[in-house]
Amino acid sequence: MDSEPVNVREFQKLAKEALPKMHYDYYAGGAEDEHTLKENVKAFQRITFRPRILIDVSNINMETTILGYKTSAPIMVAPTGSHIYAHPEGEVATARAAAACNTIMVLSFSSSCTIEEVASSCDAVRFYQLYVYKKRYVSAQLLARAESNGFKAVVLTADTPKLGRREADIRNKLTAPQLKNLEGLLSVEADSKGGSDFGAFASQTLDPSLNWKDIAWLKSMTKLPILLKGVLTAEDAQKAVEVGVDAIIVSNHGARQLDYAPASISVLEEVVQAVAGAVPVLFDGGVRRGTDVFKALALGAQAVMIGRPVIYGLTAKGEYGVRRVLEMLKDELELTMSLNGCCTVKDITRSHVRTEGDRL
Ligand code: FNR
Repeated sequence: MDSEPVNVREFQKLAKEALPKMHYDYYAGGAEDEHTLKENVKAFQRITFRPRILIDVSNINMETTILGYKTSAPIMVAPTGSHIYAHPEGEVATARAAAACNTIMVLSFSSSCTIEEVASSCDAVRFYQLYVYKKRYVSAQLLARAESNGFKAVVLTADTPKLGRREADIRNKLTAPQLKNLEGLLSVEADSKGGSDFGAFASQTLDPSLNWKDIAWLKSMTKLPILLKGVLTAEDAQKAVEVGVDAIIVSNHGARQLDYAPASISVLEEVVQAVAGAVPVLFDGGVRRGTDVFKALALGAQAVMIGRPVIYGLTAKGEYGVRRVLEMLKDELELTMSLNGCCTVKDITRSHVRTEGDRL
């Protein structure tokens, strides 16, 4: 099928047709019963707009600034692992598409391409996502490489002390990923018992002892700003501010970790209120439309990150596909802003949406 998708869901269909089941399931799947996976999308559907009329919307400006870096829209690329299953050019193609759209890509610690390959693929502002391995020197060295290759911030993923139970991957016998960044640092074959399964690899590498005190350890290793990814409660948001992170990312890891964690969008406002403007709050989970981007902004996010849709675009049409996904979401956001009477992202306010909890 070589049709031109008109929305993100159509890209997903193309990706499903194109990929081996094992890899499609890895990208699309969630933890256990996939309750949270469905809720991430459904919770957006329960939010409606309170549009304002008779506002001159001839000029819409979606530009925003994230940690001091200007982007064309409040839509970033989330860190997702193993782009090589989607396309032979892997994260290099994704990075070029993000750069062409003038937005920020967060490169996954579990990327197929190396930090250096991505850094030299094109000029752009990029952030680096960090997992903390039991062998901490591995994480320290990759972070140092990202910093010396011009990455501008580190995104510490804090919701993965252990890998969530992803039953499709278990059923499909998904093998341990090929992580070129680790070559010479950590023997994946040895650590995963001869290239054995994905879950075994994760449990042998991820450090379950990672805790709040380690933010100081991380700070001692880097001058980069630190974004904490995986915050879902007011309590943790306040702690994150106390320990001095530079931004918070409300995320349930695309529902791949704890099933029955809340839909990300359902806790965004709680986190935003707890943070009270001390640091920026970013958001991911279930964003499939420009309307979703608008809703997250209205509930206080400074920007959203996109996970699976980027992979679907990459699978279907490589770099061009990722660009199309980002452009589609931007176009939809522009129209949503126009029809809600908002000319800039700053014009988007809490009063533009109605949630189930509102008594309006
Ligand atoms: C992820 N995510 C993720 N997060 C992270 O911090 N490091 C990683 O390596 C990965 N890898 C990864 C792989 C795949 C296939 C998916 C789908 C997700 C989570 C990701 O950053 C983000 O939180 C979610 O993908 C956002 O939800 P949506 O947009 O996919 O609904």
